[in-house]
Amino acid sequence: MSRTYVVTGAASGIGKSTSELLTEQGHRVIGTDLRDAEIVADLSTASGREQLVEEVTRVSGGGVDAVLAVAGLATPNAATVAVNFYGTVATLEGLRPLLLRSPSPRAVAVSSMAALFPPDETLLNALLDGSETEAMARAAELEAGDAQRSSLIYGTAKRALSRWIRRQAPTAEWADASIPLNAVAPGVVYTPMTAYIMSDAAARSQVAAMVPMPLNGFFEPRGVATLLAWLTSEDNAHLCGQIIYIDGGSDAVLRGDTVF
Ligand SMILES: NC(=O)c1ccc[n+]([C@@H]2O[C@H](COP(=O)([O-])OP(=O)(O)OC[C@H]3O[C@@H](n4cnc5c(N)ncnc54)[C@H](O)[C@@H]3O)[C@@H](O)[C@H]2O)c1
Repeated sequence: MSRTYVVTGAASGIGKSTSELLTEQGHRVIGTDLRDAEIVADLSTASGREQLVEEVTRVSGGGVDAVLAVAGLATPNAATVAVNFYGTVATLEGLRPLLLRSPSPRAVAVSSMAALFPPDETLLNALLDGSETEAMARAAELEAGDAQRSSLIYGTAKRALSRWIRRQAPTAEWADASIPLNAVAPGVVYTPMTAYIMSDAAARSQVAAMVPMPLNGFFEPRGVATLLAWLTSEDNAHLCGQIIYIDGGSDAVLRGDTVF
């Protein structure tokens, strides 16, 4: 049966590949991005997030079957926190009322295996239990620091997002409303986001050392798209708050027995 899906980050990489797959499967995809999308909205700002919700409500007629929050940045600056955490949360929370009209609503976010890297605890706490103003101020401090400090921004925002998903998924808003809410956590995927790694042999070996992927190594976005399509299909009725590492084994290598 044809369903209506909202995909953020639909113009590139994983979001684009997922939109293409869902369309091939016969579904209606409402793609959103900064450009080249049915709805153009900037998830780094409060007004852009509101615009996303308003426009999706309008073009969908007030109901959607699934929300896929894929959009993200990987730059070592505060904008990455604005998009990857606040933009993703606003997408999921803002579009949740539209899911209530679906007989089989689903929601998923794209986190990252980078959530496993040691975070900046001050930023992590501000994201999960503080205000956006506090979190953005801490992100600006990290951005102004040296490369080691600014490199903490991406993984910390993704760790906060993974925790947010686990905290929210079993609650009245999601589980009690029969909406499976989960995330995927990819390893290194060939997209424009990682093009700089692929074009530089030294960067490639440095990333390969940080992200061990014994199962088939770096891979194409279609691999993530297939999992996202299943997670947001009617077939997925019982996964709740899972962070699924589609990472060629980096989670198994790095965390080993500590997760079971
Ligand atoms: N590529 C990887 O190796 C990898 C690994 C783990 C997680 N991820 C995550 O996967 C998701 C997709 O990344 P990708 O690799 O496809 O990258 P990508 O750069 O190809 O696509 C990201 C998309 O997000 C959009 N976006 C960025 N800022 C935005 C904003 N302010 N408002 C709206 N849209 C915005 C971009 O325009 C782009 O189209 C991201 O959340 C990323 O963190 C990627």
